[in-house]
Amino acid sequence: PETITVQELAARMSERGADVIKTLMRMGVMATINQVIDPDTAELVVTEMGHRPKRVAEGDVEIGLADTTDAEGTQIARPPVVTIMGHVDHGKTSLLDALRATDVAAHEAGGITQHIGAYQVTLPSGQKITFLDTPGHEAFTAMRARGAKVTDIVVLVVAGDDGVMPQTKEAIAHAKAAGVPIIVAINKMDKPGADASRVQNELLREEIQVEQLGGDVQSIEVSATKRMNLDKLEEAILLQAEVLELRANPDRLADGVVVEAKLDPGRGSVATVLVQRGTLKVGDVLVAGAVWGRVRRLVDDRGQAVESAGPAFPVEILGLAGTPQAGDEFHVVDSEARAREIADFRARRDRQAELARSAGGRGTLEEMMK
Ligand code: GTP
Ligand code: MG
Repeated sequence: PETITVQELAARMSERGADVIKTLMRMGVMATINQVIDPDTAELVVTEMGHRPKRVAEGDVEIGLADTTDAEGTQIARPPVVTIMGHVDHGKTSLLDALRATDVAAHEAGGITQHIGAYQVTLPSGQKITFLDTPGHEAFTAMRARGAKVTDIVVLVVAGDDGVMPQTKEAIAHAKAAGVPIIVAINKMDKPGADASRVQNELLREEIQVEQLGGDVQSIEVSATKRMNLDKLEEAILLQAEVLELRANPDRLADGVVVEAKLDPGRGSVATVLVQRGTLKVGDVLVAGAVWGRVRRLVDDRGQAVESAGPAFPVEILGLAGTPQAGDEFHVVDSEARAREIADFRARRDRQAELARSAGGRGTLEEMMK
């Protein structure tokens, strides 16, 4: 067939029709379930949804394997990805730094650390935890607004001497909206005025019921500056991760999310990505948002060049032709031509959306001038 309906497309990908419609909407295409869409659009939807499209003939798109639902047995346990959120000055940065210092691998490597927007800690047991080291709320909201789900667990930092504050509530709202489980870290417990049970009662009013009050939310008393109970917090994270049964297939072309990206004067475009599925390798061709490139170099969170990065590994990519945006998804594709085609389409789509927005803006202005 030359064309395909939304419903047929959804069925071939084993996705829900509503999700295909949502993806189309994100691309600026309004469609109903029975609507016929052209092959170019269909191909993009397929890629956007994390599947591999296959064009069997000009004008026809055949959907390959439902890549997002990797077969049983291909998936292995992966580290949890954690975001730390909380009110201003409650100790998010201090806690991230303190947790980072618990990394046994970093000590072996001489303790060289580098800020790439995410890092991974290896515990004495060998288990790993990935922390997103980006300004919590903004990064979280930016990524959520773009439909990316990166965080498995939110660690909610509440200062024991200050209690639940406006941004604590905001963080709770974000985590709940995203359906991400919360672990409470009551920080600054070294301070004389700190009172954990007061904080826990305040949290109850926000419908966060900690284990100490009969609920199922883990709550740990910590001190970031005194490095107190960091191991307990990490244990709590691993326990939560076990409940979530986080798994991914490392043996496929990689995809994931851009955590941070910048134009570095010396190195060109540098994007920190979190691999979510598959293994990203040097030499891979990928599309990230409206940008494409061939991976020239991969650098880990300790500044070491690496050959590859598997699920839940944060890594810097060098070699992109442009700078993607935080929250953009990336997909490894099988050719440069294909990568360029997708990136061009998205750039065009973004420009059109931008034009439509500014035209809309003028429209309302004209309305006001009437
Ligand atoms: P913003 O990024 O500005 O929102 O702040 P933050 O949440 O990252 O807090 P940050 O880590 O910058 O800590 C704020 C202040 O609290 C700093 O002066 C820290 O030294 C102090 N602080 C953080 N954790 C602790 C702690 O466990 N005990 C004590 N006594 N002070 C702490
Ligand atoms: Mg901070």
